[in-house]
Amino acid sequence: MKFFVDTADIAEIRALAALGMVDGVTTNPSLIAKSGRKITEVIVEICEAVPGPVSAEVTATEFAPMLKEARFLRGLAKNVVVKLPLTMDGLKACKALSDEGVPVNVTLCFSAAQALLAAKAGAAYISPFVGRLDDVGQDGMALIAEIVEIYANYDFGTEVLVASVRNPMHVVQAAKLGADVATLPPAVLRQLFQHPLTDKGLAAFLADWAKTGQSIL
Ligand code: G3P
Repeated sequence: MKFFVDTADIAEIRALAALGMVDGVTTNPSLIAKSGRKITEVIVEICEAVPGPVSAEVTATEFAPMLKEARFLRGLAKNVVVKLPLTMDGLKACKALSDEGVPVNVTLCFSAAQALLAAKAGAAYISPFVGRLDDVGQDGMALIAEIVEIYANYDFGTEVLVASVRNPMHVVQAAKLGADVATLPPAVLRQLFQHPLTDKGLAAFLADWAKTGQSIL
């Protein structure tokens, strides 16, 4: 399973990439706004810091301007993946760009039917938002199960990129379902490392070790 980080904070990305756990990055207009920086600078810096796929999202909502923005973003670095919303224009643009060999991440997916359309449009990734579904009382992870099953039925090449991840259980459940990628807020990636029994066990080992008066080197 690949881990992407869902942030436009370059310092966070560099720190997490140094752990060797970051296979790619996803951004969206809200995350770029939060960074307080120009999208072009941020995307170029992220692409230099992480060699894997870096999703950069268009903000146009109609086909022709979407294509223009997509081609501009794709021109920023060779590892840019264009992110398009799951709308009619978005999927039309997805088909056109995918046919040209441009990798597309289709975002804002909330149903299996939408995911099926994205695969037919040639998307490299589909981004179902599990946390936002949970927030409105629907089971986000049930959607991942449906999409994984449907894509396997037809051998679609589209990768299931679990987005809007809010906690480590989302990550574990997505992995159990065989999702290809989870994009994680930095805090969730850090949480994955943690267990209180690890801390407690290590403290006990070190206390016992100190009593021996030894040092390994
Ligand atoms: O990048 C899309 C997605 O991961 C957003 O997550 O937490 O804003 O629902 P969230």
